[in-house]
Amino acid sequence: MPDSTNLASTHGKHFYGRRKGHTLSPRQNAMLDTLLPKLAVTIPDAPDAPIDIDALFARKDAPLWLEIGFGKGEHIATQAKWNPEVNLIGCEPFINGVVGLLYIIADEKQENIRIYPDDARDVLEHLPDASVERTFLLHPDPWPKTKHEKRRFVSQENLASLARVMKDGAELRIGTDHSNYARWTMLQLDRSPFFQWNATSADQWRIRPDDWPETRYQQKALKDGVSSVYLSFNRVSR
Ligand SMILES: C[S@@+](CC[C@H](N)C(=O)[O-])C[C@H]1O[C@@H](n2cnc3c(N)ncnc32)[C@H](O)[C@@H]1O
Repeated sequence: MPDSTNLASTHGKHFYGRRKGHTLSPRQNAMLDTLLPKLAVTIPDAPDAPIDIDALFARKDAPLWLEIGFGKGEHIATQAKWNPEVNLIGCEPFINGVVGLLYIIADEKQENIRIYPDDARDVLEHLPDASVERTFLLHPDPWPKTKHEKRRFVSQENLASLARVMKDGAELRIGTDHSNYARWTMLQLDRSPFFQWNATSADQWRIRPDDWPETRYQQKALKDGVSSVYLSFNRVSR
């Protein structure tokens, strides 16, 4: 659970989470200084200006996938490897996690990932309309106390932002190992006019699909005997 809260993000929003863990080694700092600038997504200054997706990636006109809160990057890196024809943007304000992903990208020479090392809501504000074909939100911070529920990423406001940037029919995947957060997610998605749940059987949300790589938090939960749910929604047609 995050231990430092209520810090303003680069773009003025309040981010309730942890930006730093243990002190970075000189090698990790060097990785941040050299590789991150080549892969970083820059947010345009003008409030309505869109991120130039074509300028970001070598492969133009490829499908764009988005991961919100990639942690140490295992899931986004695996998706990038399995789907070399796709461009991916990962957002993560926890700098130790960003370094983790940079190491994977450097080791595996991956070319289809770009990183926004801050609050995903900044990216959602500036992505072009209907530009994203799949979004991953995996094990978001659960903020279990009722008084903190406004901090949960799954909210009507964020769902509306996601709906704007996602194409008709695009998939929104949400995984969690917290039963309360799973219930919260279902309630919020049920209230949202923009998404529909596409499960037709219990197995579809109880069993991890083959193309849904395990994440660190999912594995942690499994070690504690807690299983996760695998929720998949589609952006309804405009
Ligand atoms: C519980 S961790 C899960 C990490 C990873 N998805 C996994 O399943 O192993 C939640 C992550 O979401 C990140 N996060 C929280 N709020 C965020 C936001 N507004 N934008 C992007 N990432 C966020 C946190 O920094 C944290 O790394």
